[in-house]
Amino acid sequence: MKLIKTYDMDLNEEWSTHLQELLIASFPEVYPKERLFFKQIPHCRILAFTSDNQLIGHVGLDYRMMNLNGKAVRVMGIIDLCVSTAHRSQGLGSLLLSEAEKRSRESSDFVLLFADHEKLYSKHGYKAVNNTCKWLKIDHETLATIGIGCQKVEGLMIKEVGTLSWSEGELDFLGYLY
Ligand SMILES: CC(C)(COP(=O)(O)OP(=O)(O)OC[C@H]1O[C@@H](n2cnc3c(N)ncnc32)[C@H](O)[C@@H]1OP(=O)(O)O)[C@@H](O)C(=O)NCCC(=O)NCCS
Repeated sequence: MKLIKTYDMDLNEEWSTHLQELLIASFPEVYPKERLFFKQIPHCRILAFTSDNQLIGHVGLDYRMMNLNGKAVRVMGIIDLCVSTAHRSQGLGSLLLSEAEKRSRESSDFVLLFADHEKLYSKHGYKAVNNTCKWLKIDHETLATIGIGCQKVEGLMIKEVGTLSWSEGELDFLGYLY
């Protein structure tokens, strides 16, 4: 097993093709077929390869400032975590998650994600939070800005990785919501 950090500008055609296949297979029906992101390119990605160079796992990272109740905080966002069906339930999703966290510890106050199912994340110390979010709305079909959203969003989970404690209240994403 190899984990490799990469940037989209450095992805070659072969890796792009395999990543597209993995994303579409992992998020069937919903993942765009012609690009490697829903709304915006992540800042970097961690890819997992078998020893014979088969791409079997992915996590995208979005590193940015957010505003939590008036305080600027450093947040590492987890995007499109996925593992190929044949390699699930063997700890690879957890490994990708902890690798993303490892890279966040020095640089971030919180790791943040949106979970469809909480189980994997609560096992790894994430907690469901209930903040009112403000974000830049992007229509993922037209890739156009359509306004500012302001409401509670299902599935928001965070992990404290620095010295700051999370607080309920208002969370301004200072950008799009992944
Ligand atoms: C979620 C996912 C990345 C987990 O990968 P994995 O390598 O199987 O993860 P691990 O082996 O470390 O942990 C497995 C546990 O994750 C949990 N899990 C399974 N699907 C999950 C999901 N969609 N979201 C959160 N947790 C999930 C289960 O508790 C599972 O335990 P089990 O194997 O006993 O059933 C993988 O199931 C996947 O790619 N799913 C499709 C894409 C997806 O839904 N990604 C999450 C977006 S929020």
